[in-house]
Amino acid sequence: MSAGAPAPPLTLAGAAQVLRPPADGLPYLRHDRAHELTLEPGDVTLADGRVAAFAADAGARRVDCSGCAVVPGFVDCHTHLPFAGWRAEEYAMKVAGRPYEEIARAGGGIRASARAFATADDAAVLAQARALAGELLRHGTTTFECKCGYGLSVDAELRALRLADELGRAVPQTTCSTALLAHAVPDGYDAERWLDAVIDALPQVRAQTRAEALDVFVESVAFDNSALARIGAAARVYGMALRAHVEQLASHGSVPVALAAGARSVDHLSCLPEEHVAPLAAAECAAVLLPGAELLGNERTPPARALADAGAICALATDLNPGTSPIASLPLIAGLAVRRYGWSVREALLAVTLNAAWVLDRSAELGSLDVGKRADVLLLDGPVEHVPYRFGRNPVAAVLVAGEPAWVREDHAWRFAA
Ligand code: NIG
Ligand code: FE
Repeated sequence: MSAGAPAPPLTLAGAAQVLRPPADGLPYLRHDRAHELTLEPGDVTLADGRVAAFAADAGARRVDCSGCAVVPGFVDCHTHLPFAGWRAEEYAMKVAGRPYEEIARAGGGIRASARAFATADDAAVLAQARALAGELLRHGTTTFECKCGYGLSVDAELRALRLADELGRAVPQTTCSTALLAHAVPDGYDAERWLDAVIDALPQVRAQTRAEALDVFVESVAFDNSALARIGAAARVYGMALRAHVEQLASHGSVPVALAAGARSVDHLSCLPEEHVAPLAAAECAAVLLPGAELLGNERTPPARALADAGAICALATDLNPGTSPIASLPLIAGLAVRRYGWSVREALLAVTLNAAWVLDRSAELGSLDVGKRADVLLLDGPVEHVPYRFGRNPVAAVLVAGEPAWVREDHAWRFAA
């Protein structure tokens, strides 16, 4: 939902740190340049819903930002909203040593969430998704991706995408959606026949929903590299971006296939072989890393330090879903990335702002504090270095969407009272 009337000019005054890219207008910043992000004290003026100047405006309302870091709104470029219910019982099984693939083959995993989605009515699905969007907002997420994938029939996947669109109209954040039609092979199909059905359904997906990208889960319990190539070809035909869940639980050598298919992003990468780091880093394709799924799934750690050093376009996301990552906090994900990957705080912040916006094709409009960009801005209640350090704590004091406060934490309300 976009903001209504233009917000009155507002000066975020006297911030201890303002996070800015090294130049305006960058579509993304490769990770070997993350150290060029600046973190200087200063003022930021917002007008007409946009970033207007990096100086105070005498006529503007003043928000005292002393002690705060001012950063762009976070962008969660990989979530599985909307979904129905949770799967805590599976987490208990995984902790006790049962592998994800075994749970999935026994009818759990994606199939369990598909059963829950089929039995929940639209109002129930939307109520859960709106509550989670509220949780995302309070943790600083001003833009997020939605995916279908828990439908497992053409009609149910279209329903999920329509609900994603409805969610987007109901929440303050910017949303965009991805058709993850190749998530699991539905009962009664083999992979090939389900892909035929998926490709036949794409005109309906285009006509009835706002989905901008196609996605596919490449894994032993899901689809193989030939399916990835087929979905990639279909994405080109329908003018959609290609995203892919690859190299999560085992290595299938999927990254070269995704690159050849022109993928916008490859996501997960826990089992990425070393020889695929350089080609991925050289490509205009983001490495979307999901350390929440890695931690809770006891997955391997991707070669994230090597990807960053080689100049990949890295992004981080929650992967918010009921199976592998029931996590809504990008500050927590950033903290995990710093610890698990040996990343700097600048690297982690770049990965949840500008580069994540590029994954969603929104970086011309948001993702960094550039004059003219949409004023989706966060006040953090301390220096950015505290985001990974005070691990697990929510540092977000206030969230502005298009220049207007969308959420202000009670102990910081005084800043907006004047
Ligand atoms: O991104 N890997 C595939 N899809 C999800 C998990 C699906 C599920 O178990 O519900 C993921 O991890
Ligand atoms: Fe995912």
